[in-house]
Amino acid sequence: MDAIGIERGADEPRLLELPRPEPAPGEALVETLRVGVDGTDHEVIAGNHGSPPDGEDHLVLGHEAVGVVETAPGTDLEAGDVVVPTVRRPPGDDPNDYFERGEADMAPPGATLERGIDGAHGFMSEYFTSPEEYLVAVPPDLASLGFLVEPMSVSEKALELAAAARSSFEWRPETALVLGNGALGLLTVAVLVDDADEVYCLGRRDRPDPTIDVIERLGATYVDSRETPVSAVPEVHEPADLVYEATGHARHAFESIEALAPGGVAALLGVPDPWTFEVDGGRLHEELVLNNKALVGSVNSGVRHFEAAVDRLRELPRWFPESFVTEVTPHRSFGPAFRRGPTNIKSVVEFARYEER
Ligand code: NAP
Ligand code: BGC
Ligand code: ZN
Repeated sequence: MDAIGIERGADEPRLLELPRPEPAPGEALVETLRVGVDGTDHEVIAGNHGSPPDGEDHLVLGHEAVGVVETAPGTDLEAGDVVVPTVRRPPGDDPNDYFERGEADMAPPGATLERGIDGAHGFMSEYFTSPEEYLVAVPPDLASLGFLVEPMSVSEKALELAAAARSSFEWRPETALVLGNGALGLLTVAVLVDDADEVYCLGRRDRPDPTIDVIERLGATYVDSRETPVSAVPEVHEPADLVYEATGHARHAFESIEALAPGGVAALLGVPDPWTFEVDGGRLHEELVLNNKALVGSVNSGVRHFEAAVDRLRELPRWFPESFVTEVTPHRSFGPAFRRGPTNIKSVVEFARYEER
């Protein structure tokens, strides 16, 4: 079967020919429909994050997948079910405590592998296998958008952690500030505009730009970080009850503290490269304490976040997917899916079409 992978030391993905996987007992064989590409895939390709499985010379890419069950003997799944796989798998044969508790998303790096990212092959192949417990059912009418369930689930978890950190008092994010107009940032803006009175989204692009169009059509306000740095947002606009960092720009983790209103919380999602810089640690520490502010880091997501994400996808405005998914590429000519540029918001590699199976 065809697969798209990155070889050790290479700087661009390649089409690979691999044997079709055989499902073990308790596993499903899934025919892949679509696999999305995000900032993490670019970090993996650049060699800045993750690695191939131990002892192997390549990594099959892809962690945002949707597919259709081909066979799943001995499971509750049936041929034809539309499913989305979760990303994390236990290292070694036995599940550790995190996996046994169903909290793989809380495992630190040494206690988990990530399919398509770190130490385990991903889903960018015509077929993949997965244990039933790591597959989440998706209604067939969402099959073509099912690749958005994983990134949406990442936001579901981060917003849950942020709200949990404010659960001991009356808190509602009336004002939210999303840092980053990449795919994760825009998906999160689409979620937040339903609940917050005012949503701001920070980028560094000139108009005309399709991400700014999406931000404004969602009813949010674009903030250009070149004119208004994160720490100036309270002065130029207003302080934020919630900051959602999705730039991977390490300074934003600290500047978020200054953008928050008293009692606010910032969820950090970016995965930056090492970078040494100066901050006024005393002032930021004081700011956190005297204004009851919180910072929470959040990575990955669990089955319940995937389930919440399925519901959330249904609530997106009808126009959103068409404006947001800018590049659908057949898997044999996948090149454009990995090209970054101002006109490409979210790209997806298509292996099969649900309606044509
Ligand atoms: P992405 O497509 O690379 O988006 C990042 C966006 O931030 C880009 O649009 C970029 O603008 C913008 N940006 C970067 N630095 C900026 C700055 N200084 N000022 C204003 N805008 C800035 O990545 P993504 O897929 O949306 O993911 C966002 C981040 O979250 C990445 O670091 C990724 O690794 C991480 N992530 C984490 C998780 C998790 O579980 N924690 C899950 C998914 C992704 P330009 O495009 O104009 O350069
Ligand atoms: C993926 C997560 C993963 C994280 C860190 C994200 O892009 O969506 O599932 O845990 O990267 O590798
Ligand atoms: Zn991702």
